[in-house]
Amino acid sequence: MKPELKAVFQQDVEAVDEYLCQNGYISKSDSEEQKVIDAEFYALTAGGKRIRPVLCIEFYKLFGGRDDIVEIASCLELMHTFSLIHDDMPEMDNDDMRRGKPSVHCAYGADTALLAGDGLAILPFEIISDSALKGTISPETAVRLINCLSKAAGNQGMIMGQRLDLISEGKQVDLEFLGRMSSLKTGCILSASAQFGAILAGADEEDIGKAARYAENMGLAFQIIDDILDITGTADELGKPIGSDEKRSKDTYATIMGVDKAYEEAKRLTEAAVAAISDIDGSELLCELAYDLLDRRH
Ligand code: IPE
Ligand code: IPE
Ligand code: MG
Ligand code: MG
Ligand code: MG
Repeated sequence: MKPELKAVFQQDVEAVDEYLCQNGYISKSDSEEQKVIDAEFYALTAGGKRIRPVLCIEFYKLFGGRDDIVEIASCLELMHTFSLIHDDMPEMDNDDMRRGKPSVHCAYGADTALLAGDGLAILPFEIISDSALKGTISPETAVRLINCLSKAAGNQGMIMGQRLDLISEGKQVDLEFLGRMSSLKTGCILSASAQFGAILAGADEEDIGKAARYAENMGLAFQIIDDILDITGTADELGKPIGSDEKRSKDTYATIMGVDKAYEEAKRLTEAAVAAISDIDGSELLCELAYDLLDRRH
C-alpha cells in the first residue's frame, strides 16, 4: 500500500484501538462480578487487524461521510471478536491461542468465555440503539444497521457458516460447499462492515450493493488465505496455532486445490472485489487494502 494510504489505514486502526480501550461499555476490571466484562476487554484489546471497522470507516468516507463513526464501526469488531471466542472453544476448533495470547476459555474458563461471547454479540445492538436514542444517528439508520448486522451474524449468516464448518469435520466436501461455508462464516460480517459504512453515509442502494459485492468477494478471498496460512504460516506471525484445520480433519480450499491454486482463486476473487468499486472516485485505499490482505502473512 502507498505510504500515504497506509497512514490513513493506520489512523483508522488507532482510532478503533483507542475506542476499544476506552469506552462507556467495556473496561478492565479485577472484580469477580465484572469478570465477563474483563474477559471481553481482554479479547478485544489483545490485538487484531481491525479489518471490519476499517472497512466501515473507509466505505463511510468513500460515500461522502465526514463524521466520527468509530463507535458504530467498532460494533463490527465486537461481533467478530464474539465469533472468535466461541470459535476457539474446545467444542468448536479447540485452539488455545488467539491474537498472541491464551484464548479466552484458557485464560478465564469456558463458562466465562461463553458469556463473554454472548455479551459481545449483544452489545452492538445496545450501542447502535443508544446512538439513535442520543440522536447521533437517525432511528431509521439504526434499524437498517441492526437489520444488516443481525442478518449477517445470525442463523442464515455467520452462525450458519459455523454450523456448516462443524458438519464438515472429518468429511470430504466439494468446492461449492466450501464456498458457501466460507462466504457465510467470514464473508457475511465483512459484507455487513462495508454496508455499515455505506448505510451510515446515506449511500443509495446501488452503492450499498457495490460495497457488499466488494466485501463478499474480498471475504471469500480472506478465508481462503486464512486456510492457506493455517498450512504455510507460523504461530508467531499469526498469533494463533497453525494446523488447526488439519487437526480437526477439515477440508479447506488449500487442502482440496493445493496452496498455489487456492492462492490463484483468492487472487481472482480479490480482482472481482476491486472491480466492484474501482469506478468510484477515492476507492484507491480499499482497492489496495484488498491486495494487501491477499498477500498478508497474518
Ligand atoms: C480471523 O479473522 C477469523 C476469520 C474470519 C478468518 P481475522 O484474521 O480478521 O482475525 P483478527 O481480527 O485479525 O484477529
Ligand atoms: C473462523 O474461521 C470464522 C469465524 C470465527 C466466524 P476459522 O476457524 O478458520 O478462523 P481462525 O483460523 O480460527 O481464526
Ligand atoms: Mg473455525
Ligand atoms: Mg478457528
Ligand atoms: Mg482458520
